[in-house]
Amino acid sequence: MVNKITSLAEYLKKYEESVADPDGFWGNVAESHFWRKKWDKVLDWKFEGEGAPDVNWFVNGKLNITENIFERNMFMRKDQVAIIWEPNDPKDKEIKLTYGELFDKVKQFANGLKKLGIKKGDRVALYLPMVPELVISMLACARIGAIHSIVFAGFSASALADRINDAKANLLITSDGGFRGTKSIPMKGIVDEALETCPSIKNAIILEHTKDEVKIVKGRDLWWHDVIKGVSTDNKAEEMDSEDVLFILYTSGSTGKPKGVVHTIAGYMVYAEYTFKNVFQYSDGDIFWCTADIGWVTGHSYIVYGPLLTGATSVMFEGVPTYPDAGRFWDIVDKYKVNQFYTAPTAIRALVAQGNQWVTGHDLSSLKVLGTVGEPINEEAWRWYHDLVGKARCPIVDTWWQTETGGIMITPLAGITPTKPSLATLPLPGIQPILVDPEGNELKGNGVEGILCIKFPWPGMIRTTYGDHKRCFTTYFSAYKNLYLTGDGAKRDEEGYYRIIGRIDDVINVSGHRIGTAEVEDAINQHPRVIESAVVGYPHDIKGSGIYAYVICEDLSDDNLASIENEIRETVNKFIGPIAKPDKIQIVTGLPKTRSGKIMRRILRKIGEGDATNLGDTSTLLDPGVVEEIINGAKVPVKR
Ligand code: PRX
Repeated sequence: MVNKITSLAEYLKKYEESVADPDGFWGNVAESHFWRKKWDKVLDWKFEGEGAPDVNWFVNGKLNITENIFERNMFMRKDQVAIIWEPNDPKDKEIKLTYGELFDKVKQFANGLKKLGIKKGDRVALYLPMVPELVISMLACARIGAIHSIVFAGFSASALADRINDAKANLLITSDGGFRGTKSIPMKGIVDEALETCPSIKNAIILEHTKDEVKIVKGRDLWWHDVIKGVSTDNKAEEMDSEDVLFILYTSGSTGKPKGVVHTIAGYMVYAEYTFKNVFQYSDGDIFWCTADIGWVTGHSYIVYGPLLTGATSVMFEGVPTYPDAGRFWDIVDKYKVNQFYTAPTAIRALVAQGNQWVTGHDLSSLKVLGTVGEPINEEAWRWYHDLVGKARCPIVDTWWQTETGGIMITPLAGITPTKPSLATLPLPGIQPILVDPEGNELKGNGVEGILCIKFPWPGMIRTTYGDHKRCFTTYFSAYKNLYLTGDGAKRDEEGYYRIIGRIDDVINVSGHRIGTAEVEDAINQHPRVIESAVVGYPHDIKGSGIYAYVICEDLSDDNLASIENEIRETVNKFIGPIAKPDKIQIVTGLPKTRSGKIMRRILRKIGEGDATNLGDTSTLLDPGVVEEIINGAKVPVKR
């Protein structure tokens, strides 16, 4: 397979080449793609100065990413399965779409979108369960040059509306509902509520999936099946520039509302394909399964774009790992003879807790590679995954990356890079990580720990934050001159391997999902009785980090004290969604603040961790008595 590294020596050689001559290296990788017109220059960039960041890959190249998925692969793969869809309920029938069938559906839906007046540059919001039509919608947008903005189906009406409004989307694609285990989620009801405050939306296309009854708003809502009725499957792809926007994906940061991370076509395409085939060592005919939801970047890059660009067979699953029982993942691996399996540490930990018997009854001999993503994997979970699931035969790739990076950055190459439990190991070719101290001084050599930054552009990197370019600079490029700030702390061990320690900012990684503490606080503060709140993360056995909220309320009486915690949780559910509901809520009368009014989260974090013995210097606090009160009322065991 072209551009696939096959040995450690080759990796080391490629890595050196990619640093010595990035243009030559990436230009060479991109040669295997299908271009309407080749680029004039591989890379043009600046991280500093007026208009920064300004990063352009494959400058003036013309292409369409769907021509690289379909037309490029069609000769060889017309009858090969592209997508295997496994329904929530194993009693329902799976769907297999070949490249030829998927192509026809994409072209037909692309024509349907055009009929509705959707054109190049328009933003289309997708709020869909994990069904094949989500992939069809994404690729149909890409085919006509519209920008997709996928909103995870677990977000609330208010969170959906925020994202639609920020992107000024004019079309929403959704469904009547989605299935999750025993539940059917009434998505259309959430959409109806959201769209009350979304003036930019002209139409909503609704897929019939759960067949639950929905309200149809005349003049706005259209059924998917009507949009494609009688529509041709002939469609010529729109010619796009390398740096035209492919998609927006919202992610949380330490301040303000979620930001729309923008990825552009050519760089993302080249990077998604390159990382997919190398990290997972995909071979022709393999069955690849990434269990993520397409609502997150992992699904974008490793269910859809990476695998389909490579011509792989990609499994997508609508359900949950514990329905109908905790053996479901392994049922599916066995059913489709999955070769590469990619999941999150939180899912592994949840399955460890269910017991080994759910794994042992299945034939997992097809597995060749196991992967993890989203958060640090603890050694116990790594061992279980390695020994029980992989029978000690399958290399584990612990892949570190972010929504902003577009694809995997630091990772072993499966079976090539020697691994160590809980280490993401080495950077991929083209990736130049650097560790710095808080002042921005480079920490050279091995055996050092610091803030992880990247010092040179890579094709899959973020280009801007939608509608606010300055925010992109401030968030990622202003802390340290000429460096991209990842927001993670990391350690480089004696062998030069990277271990990701976790976020250094006010972002909590809950079950591998990024939640900004400020966002949760904003939601909690919407409750009429809440005066102020402070949210921190704390160690959680399954989720990695849980959400701990310290809340000051007014007018609390014996009557409403009992219900206030639930009301606060419901408020967060309403403004963000279930993923952001606090695990612990502690009602307090004050928060530890400096004299200038800044909340000292460090102290709250320590208390939340159950380690109140070493709170550091509290002398600058406005009211040190508050700390004692919080410790005494703490709901986690306090070590003394
Ligand atoms: O803290 C790191 C953690 O997840 C963050 C990125 O989150 P998100 O943009 O939602 O993307 C998640 C999936 C790519 C990072 O800043 N993270 C991701 N992968 C790892 C990780 N932490 C440790 N080890 C990893 N393998």
